[in-house]
Amino acid sequence: MSYETLLVETHDRVTLIRLNRPQALNALNSQVMNDLIAALGAFDADDSQGCAVITGSEKAFAAGADIKEMAELTFADTFGGNLFAGYDRVIATRKPVIAAVSGFALGGGCELAMMCDFIIAADSAKFGQPEIKLGVTPGMGGSQRMARAIGKAKTMEMCLTGRMMGAAEAEAAGLVARVVPAADLIAEALKSAEAVASMSPLATRAVKEMVNVAFETPLAQGVLFERRLFDGLFGSEDQKEGMAAFIAKRAADWKGR
Ligand code: HXC
Repeated sequence: MSYETLLVETHDRVTLIRLNRPQALNALNSQVMNDLIAALGAFDADDSQGCAVITGSEKAFAAGADIKEMAELTFADTFGGNLFAGYDRVIATRKPVIAAVSGFALGGGCELAMMCDFIIAADSAKFGQPEIKLGVTPGMGGSQRMARAIGKAKTMEMCLTGRMMGAAEAEAAGLVARVVPAADLIAEALKSAEAVASMSPLATRAVKEMVNVAFETPLAQGVLFERRLFDGLFGSEDQKEGMAAFIAKRAADWKGR
């Protein structure tokens, strides 16, 4: 399958999705959104694939929603047309998705990265929510996800001043999982994705659901949700296989059932 604004490669069990609008620093126009919806849908439906990596170019993960496309929109277009609702597809993806960020991840680009399950950043990465400078605000969940990831003080400052945050600060603040040299970004992200993809697909989906529930529920309910998913995995062949393989000192052969 080929896409107008994406380059998609499969590496054994890992799908690498590269945003590819270099002339606009990967600004997220409606074509990018539609292409991402299709690519993530295909990835999620393909049993041979266990983890996806979304990346951009060395200069820009994505410099935001496409300002030229948005400039003349009306309230009826945005609210009436539910403008960015298509990005809910990123959140709906049941298999893990890693963002590999090099260069600018601004506005919708930062928000797209934060929708992924975790972010690996090149040392060149720059995160920001500069919408305030355009007379608007984050609109793809940025104010909410950033506040949950790094707290009110930094989020408020980032969203009110529109300043950028470098990779080291983003790592110290807890926005990114890991910072790697820019030259190693794709290799490191693929290595991490291969590790994720080598686990039981059932346990992997369970981890994704339970960690995400932490942001939606009180602690006691979240702990109970975790325990019930944990209990449920004892009904899977993969649990028997994983524990038998450990005891026999061999690699597990996951069946996904
Ligand atoms: C459309 C964009 C763009 C964007 C860059 N370009 N960002 N086009 N939408 N978000 C285009 C430029 O117009 C230019 O095209 C080309 O990409 C290269 O950009 P330059 O500005 O020349 O590059 P540089 O000087 O290196 O500056 C890089 C930059 C700057 C600092 C990232 O481009 C920038 O500030 N971009 C906008 C960042 C931003 O405000 N993002 C938030 C968008 S609002 P031409 O044709 O002129 O050469 C948003 C809303 C989210 O994301 C909420 C709902 C989703």
